[in-house]
Amino acid sequence: MLHDKRILLIVSGGIAVYKALDLVRRLRERGASVRAVMTPAAQRFVTPLAFGAITGNQVFIELFDRAAEHDVGHIRLLREADLVLVAPATADLMAKMVHGLADDLATATLLASKTPILIAPAMNSVMWANPATQRNVAQLRADGIAFIGPMSGEMAESGEAGVGRMAEPLDIAAAVQAHFETSPAPGVARPLAGRRVVVTSGPTHEPIDPVRYIANRSSGKQGHAIAAAAAAAGAEVVLVSGPVTVPDPAGVEVVHVETAREMQAAVDAALPADIAVLAAAVADWRAKGTAAQKIKKDGSGRPPMLEFAENPDILAGIGHRTKDRPALVVGFAAETADLLANAQAKLAHKGADWIVANDVSLPSTGEGIMGGNTNEIRLVFHDGVEEWPRLDKRQVAERLVARIAAYFEPEDE
Ligand code: CTP
Repeated sequence: MLHDKRILLIVSGGIAVYKALDLVRRLRERGASVRAVMTPAAQRFVTPLAFGAITGNQVFIELFDRAAEHDVGHIRLLREADLVLVAPATADLMAKMVHGLADDLATATLLASKTPILIAPAMNSVMWANPATQRNVAQLRADGIAFIGPMSGEMAESGEAGVGRMAEPLDIAAAVQAHFETSPAPGVARPLAGRRVVVTSGPTHEPIDPVRYIANRSSGKQGHAIAAAAAAAGAEVVLVSGPVTVPDPAGVEVVHVETAREMQAAVDAALPADIAVLAAAVADWRAKGTAAQKIKKDGSGRPPMLEFAENPDILAGIGHRTKDRPALVVGFAAETADLLANAQAKLAHKGADWIVANDVSLPSTGEGIMGGNTNEIRLVFHDGVEEWPRLDKRQVAERLVARIAAYFEPEDE
């Protein structure tokens, strides 16, 4: 819930502006109050009148509005906000933020902000992929700005798809909520404060040719929930994520990768860390030698042969490190038979300290075994096993993080 939270929503100009109206509704439903600032371009898509009606507040559009500067002013707008949310954030607005431009009310407000900023980019996928935008994204992240999305999917332009869609209003509202949950008031317990955690999540995609890849059904829900729970417990979290549709958790540094080898490189780059939780469903195999061109039917009726190469085992790599091995290495095991024996074998040969074992042969939520919302866990140690009831993935994450915190502070148990 967002009771008493004051959100300053900055709306920049793109077709996703219409979704920002729904976002305001979602935020207000949760108890937040919302004030909107619109750029001139945003007003070409939706009028300030609409945002005024839906926020129930005056909408701010002019930097040099004598009445508003006297009455409110951008500094006061910031003073009276707990979070600045930019949705949609265009490529242009992000570029201006990187360079500290302040030529309208939206950019001046962002430049003057000491309040945390969360942005939800929205743009054409080619603009998102452009190296200039990617440089700006990296810079904004380095400046401490949190991102939600963009997501992949259909673009406003008919027939175009790719990464660039603004995250859905419900997901943005959830990220706003997560922001406040990961930034508790002073005095709230943050048992992992000062600890660095690396988490892997999601599947990997292993290319066959420029258009095809090998993948699996991992949703990333469990790994992402663990990253969010660790951040909520005060840890500095690096989440290395394969391709997923779940949004980036707020308050977490997210590194997006595609292949197992990219995931391994990103994990290595994130070390040293105190804790590694490797929840990704890494593809065990990749196609040996990716074809440079799309593989075509040759008319013979014979399918092409795919030769596989084994991927690096990221967990075993970390578990057996002699330099910079995290103090606690946690792996996962999804098994359909002999759960405990298989989990114990993985514990031993991968050099892990704990294995979170999940019996995926059990009837799940009806949404399919991988990608469901619950897990029934056995936490396997070198000297024992803990049985957990069926829990939703967020509860699993919170319990695991509590367990990790207790491991580092056994005297407080
Ligand atoms: N893992 C990894 N790198 C790989 C394969 C697996 O880091 N190349 C990690 C997973 O993130 C997980 C653990 O190893 O934490 C176990 O993954 P799982 O797929 O259950 O084990 P495999 O080693 O692939 O064994 P198998 O598929 O034969 O059960």
